[in-house]
Amino acid sequence: MDEIKPEDELRVYDSYVAGRLSAGLAAGVRTGLFDTLHAKGPLTRVELAHATGLHERGVRAWLSAMVAGQLVIEAQPGSYGLSPVAARDCVRDQPGSLAGLIDMEIENFLSPALIVEGLQEGGPCVYGNSDPWAEHATDPAKARSFSDAMHAISMRPAEALAQAANLTDARRLLDAGGGSGTISVALARAFPKLHCTILEIAPVLPHIEERAQEEGLSEQISALEGDLFADSWPGDFDAVLLSQILHDWSDEEAVRLVRRAFQALAPGGTLLIHEKLVTQDGGPLANGLVNLDMLVWTEGRQWSADELESLLKDAGFESVDVTATYGYWSLVAGTKPS
Ligand SMILES: C[S@@+](CC[C@H](N)C(=O)[O-])C[C@H]1O[C@@H](n2cnc3c(N)ncnc32)[C@H](O)[C@@H]1O
Repeated sequence: MDEIKPEDELRVYDSYVAGRLSAGLAAGVRTGLFDTLHAKGPLTRVELAHATGLHERGVRAWLSAMVAGQLVIEAQPGSYGLSPVAARDCVRDQPGSLAGLIDMEIENFLSPALIVEGLQEGGPCVYGNSDPWAEHATDPAKARSFSDAMHAISMRPAEALAQAANLTDARRLLDAGGGSGTISVALARAFPKLHCTILEIAPVLPHIEERAQEEGLSEQISALEGDLFADSWPGDFDAVLLSQILHDWSDEEAVRLVRRAFQALAPGGTLLIHEKLVTQDGGPLANGLVNLDMLVWTEGRQWSADELESLLKDAGFESVDVTATYGYWSLVAGTKPS
């Protein structure tokens, strides 16, 4: 047997135990523990148990685990508050909070059993045998919780994408599979002359209209019911955005999606691909692990910068450029020749 490097000594045990932090995080979001600590902390464990209506023993265990995970801090002996990053990311209704994403773990936790099912059947299997998008069409609550999760995961990257994208001269953008419009909102803010059309399936249209209205951007954002897999998309756009779309579909479908985007663009138009890319060695870990989410939720996988560059060039795009934007996110942009 090859020698185990000292830094690998605990790799398997640490990987095994890491799931508890993720589960504790989701439980804290769902039961309002993070919200309560944010609104009323610092609190003792007894005060926190009373304020949330939860069992004192459970709250004690949760606090100990979250202190170890550095999401909760013991502000004074026996009195607990949130760490700055937990106050930003784990509390509902905070701008850019990840709470909507984390909350979905309660119903759709990426459990070992689900991954085993994906391994055996090839997925997607998050809703049993049902296609996830068809399931959203029949179950508005699921569609809403998915839109909220996408909003949570995309909000901060959206700001960074808007800064990295060169859309100064663009007037019409197609946000294909744009969810509730999180990225279109950031783009519309950054480029006041830009109009964004969000092509989505029917259950998501009300979420788009609500968000555009809430943000005061109804003039700049419109929802269009449509199918990514229709023979063609509406045309003559200055820019097309595919954010977290290519990773939802098979490699063959991804080729077709990029070709449809090419057709939907006016000459000189820009394709923007927004994804969490993986490198040759499969990392970073956070992006490599998303392949498991893709297995159980979709037909796709995470892409590398080189693969996307080839995909775009093969479809006819030129001047393909890759920019790291926020955290684990990147923007791959290409131009349709004039
Ligand atoms: C992973 S989400 C990405 C959402 C958004 N682009 C973002 O980055 O936050 C994929 C989106 O594709 C939409 N979608 C799935 N199938 C579709 C189809 N056939 N036509 C149009 N949109 C579709 C889903 O409703 C969902 O909002």
